[in-house]
Amino acid sequence: MENVFNFWFLVVGAISMLLSFAWLIPKGTSQPPGPPNWPIVGSLLYLSKLPHRSMELLAKKYGPIMYLRLGYLNYIVISNAEMALEVLKIHDADFASRPSLIIGKYAGFEYFDVVFAPYGDNWRLLRKICATELLTQARLKTFEYGRQEEVARMVEKIAKYSEEGKVMKLRPIFHKLTSNNICRMLFGKYHEKSNCFLKKEFDNLVDCVIEMGEVGGKFNISDIIPVLKPFDVQGLERQMKHIRNRAENSLSIILNEYRNGNEMVADSTVTDFVETLLSHDGKLDERSIMGVLADMIGGGTDSSAITMEWALTELIRHPQILKRAQEELDTIVGTTRLVLPSDLPNLPYLQAIIKENFRLHPALPLAVPHFNSKDVQILTYNISANTNVLVNIWAIGRDPKVWKNPLEFDPDRFSNSNIKVGGSHYSLLPFGSGRRQCPGADLAQLMVQYSLATILHAFDWFAQPGIEPEDMNMMETFGAICPKAEPLVAIAKPRLSSQVYKQLT
Ligand code: HEM
Repeated sequence: MENVFNFWFLVVGAISMLLSFAWLIPKGTSQPPGPPNWPIVGSLLYLSKLPHRSMELLAKKYGPIMYLRLGYLNYIVISNAEMALEVLKIHDADFASRPSLIIGKYAGFEYFDVVFAPYGDNWRLLRKICATELLTQARLKTFEYGRQEEVARMVEKIAKYSEEGKVMKLRPIFHKLTSNNICRMLFGKYHEKSNCFLKKEFDNLVDCVIEMGEVGGKFNISDIIPVLKPFDVQGLERQMKHIRNRAENSLSIILNEYRNGNEMVADSTVTDFVETLLSHDGKLDERSIMGVLADMIGGGTDSSAITMEWALTELIRHPQILKRAQEELDTIVGTTRLVLPSDLPNLPYLQAIIKENFRLHPALPLAVPHFNSKDVQILTYNISANTNVLVNIWAIGRDPKVWKNPLEFDPDRFSNSNIKVGGSHYSLLPFGSGRRQCPGADLAQLMVQYSLATILHAFDWFAQPGIEPEDMNMMETFGAICPKAEPLVAIAKPRLSSQVYKQLT
């Protein structure tokens, strides 16, 4: 009798255990494989503070198209070139929308901007205005003079530190360069030495956009567990609201001055981007005008600046590569003048360095999430409507099946290669690809190439005293973009004829 009781006890126990674990098994066979889902949090426990790294590890186990449930949202994660081609080319239109994340409400002006807008007419119009009236090669050429002035001012600043033998933090210097450059493109007359009374508003706007990237880029639990939204447990929404109000206030003041025809603002020689946007006034919502300006400042400032910081760090860690780049620069430019934009096409080794840096240190390791509003079939998998799609740019650039010794910084891998970073090679996607790919890729490459060429040519670079180059910390922190966890601190020594630095002031 006792044995029979034990038998039924075991059977009932086994069935109830099976039932209680049933939710761990992914529903439907056609869903991509992925780690187990736990109640409420889904697969969140498998992600670290550097989710691109955790996802790369998970993809090694579950494959290059992987399903994750985070809280109440469905995600797929794409981790190799073949799957990136499926999502960003073959099914590009199906995945061209964006999920309604909380950051999009504040940074994207209620999703009326470009970055966070759902796929549709408003996004199409705004994107066209940016791509054809601000970021074309021809328009970039008209802003060349401004770029040259800003790069020369950066050299002046670095020269001052080096004269005094001081160590310097490079990130703020690069930020100033890129934000001044984009502000000149957007707001014409604006530049650091300008006595324009709106300078306070421009500066506040840049600060707000950078702060928004820092706060909004943090993982927000309310995005994946909507019942928590009213409680704003991390306080992120409160902070985003505050930053947005400050940004909107400055933007209103600036736009009013333009609309009132204030001569201090408009530059008669080059039509700036605000004037271009206002020429579409009737067709654009005020939130779109503000949102797109914030997008351009966001895209044009931080991502280029941290890319330069990563590249310079790699070169300080690899003195032979730095020396070879300087030899190329000396051959093409000489030592009696600074680099000119026209020198850039003649610097293939420098370009290889920059590609290698984009491969190992993409500013956005995970592209901005894509989103599909209807079911899509990828190979044998069904991706159900309303899935968030994360392209792991970081993992794709380190895929050992494509890149030999993927963790080594080796620009020579690009020496005789036609691989470009603009979205046509799916094994290297720092700017994404397809309809939502970065519209600022040409500007970003120009800024990074030109400024890096100039400072490598004008200065020798060394790690701060007490740190061996090979011991420099190469970890990143995660946010909307991924900068070095420890900002670069370095020493520069002039290497050109002294006349070159005197002519700058
Ligand atoms: C090194 C510099 C930069 C990098 C690495 C970078 C990278 C990216 C990436 C990966 C995306 C997402 C693509 C996707 O969703 O598939 C993106 C989107 C975007 N970027 Fe950039 N970017 C840079 C510079 C810029 C610049 C200079 C601008 C403009 C001035 C800009 C404006 C934008 C905009 C507006 C979008 C959203 C496009 C859309 O949703 O249609 N970015 N960028």
